[in-house]
Amino acid sequence: MKVLVTGGAGYIGSTICSALEDRGHTPVILDSLITGRIEFTKNRIFYKGDIADLALVDKIFEEHPDICSTVHCAALTVVPESVADPYNYYNENVAKTNILLKKLCELGCKDFLFSSSASIYGDTKKQEVTESDPLNPQSPYAATKYMCELIMRDFSVAYGARAIVFRYFNVVGADPSMRTGPYKDAPTLLLPRLILHDKGLGQFKLTGVNWPTRDGTGVRDYVHVWDIAMAHALAVERFDTVCADAPFQAINLGSGSGVTVREFIRDFEAVVGHKLDIEETDPRPGDVAGAFTKIDKAQNLLGWSPTLSIQSAIADNLKWYDIYNSNK
Ligand SMILES: NC(=O)c1ccc[n+]([C@@H]2O[C@H](COP(=O)([O-])OP(=O)(O)OC[C@H]3O[C@@H](n4cnc5c(N)ncnc54)[C@H](O)[C@@H]3O)[C@@H](O)[C@H]2O)c1
Repeated sequence: MKVLVTGGAGYIGSTICSALEDRGHTPVILDSLITGRIEFTKNRIFYKGDIADLALVDKIFEEHPDICSTVHCAALTVVPESVADPYNYYNENVAKTNILLKKLCELGCKDFLFSSSASIYGDTKKQEVTESDPLNPQSPYAATKYMCELIMRDFSVAYGARAIVFRYFNVVGADPSMRTGPYKDAPTLLLPRLILHDKGLGQFKLTGVNWPTRDGTGVRDYVHVWDIAMAHALAVERFDTVCADAPFQAINLGSGSGVTVREFIRDFEAVVGHKLDIEETDPRPGDVAGAFTKIDKAQNLLGWSPTLSIQSAIADNLKWYDIYNSNK
């Protein structure tokens, strides 16, 4: 199948392209490269441009009339940036998605997969999240994901579209074949902070050790980017099954079990083969005990569950880090 992948030059979009190719499909990438990497499009059909450039979308469909669905990953993704400049985030992520999806409906290409985010649940106060939990986005970024979901839901009613929205929990790792991987500095995220600390390039503090969890540290839900990518490849193939009962389906993608921060650090230490020297401190303002998702819906509708461990995600991330930084 030929699949339009917006944001296909980014971290997750490029991994989805690899998963699609490995299953015999052909991705067609539309990406402005505002953050994505040109090298991630190598040997792939690639159109450089904006998702709201309708002339370009027309050209893509003239040249590839056999595109049958769209994986929509293109977005701005930095939460603090969205707080500082909400106009830009609502414009780039929501207004442009509205324009793109309407155009795709006019072109008769009405099957969408969307990169949504667990951040739309807000702080649920529950450790186990399901798709039916209330949505309460806490940042303009999270709100853009929620609004795009609403657009897709309403387009499915009005225009006969079908939408599978995947709410990703924390995505880590790199393509196990090392075609692409994380490329942005993310010094606030757990794994990048551990990597920098281990390489002597940054300090790591374990913030919050008295939460009501099994070991006092926060609970998180990490899922290997390859498992996330495979969920998209499966969904492209199984639209009829997934959307048999309803044309709009929101599905959580996570580990199904959750890991505490301390357990994650132990996994990291097991991969690098030595103990880390880590200071424990109080939680930072705004920190929460955290949550993980149940994945029954992904299992039942899609036949998907993660196949790769946290340790393999950490190992792939570390391997990619060395490859990427040696080529810089
Ligand atoms: N990384 C995560 O842990 C995570 C978690 C939940 C959801 N998501 C979602 O997954 C998607 C991909 O995230 P990522 O981490 O790969 O980010 P990324 O920045 O690596 O990828 C986004 C891609 O979209 C492109 N893009 C942005 N605006 C565009 C526009 N207007 N027109 C064309 N291209 C545009 C960028 O150039 C980039 O290549 C995003 O929608 C993000 O919100 C990511």
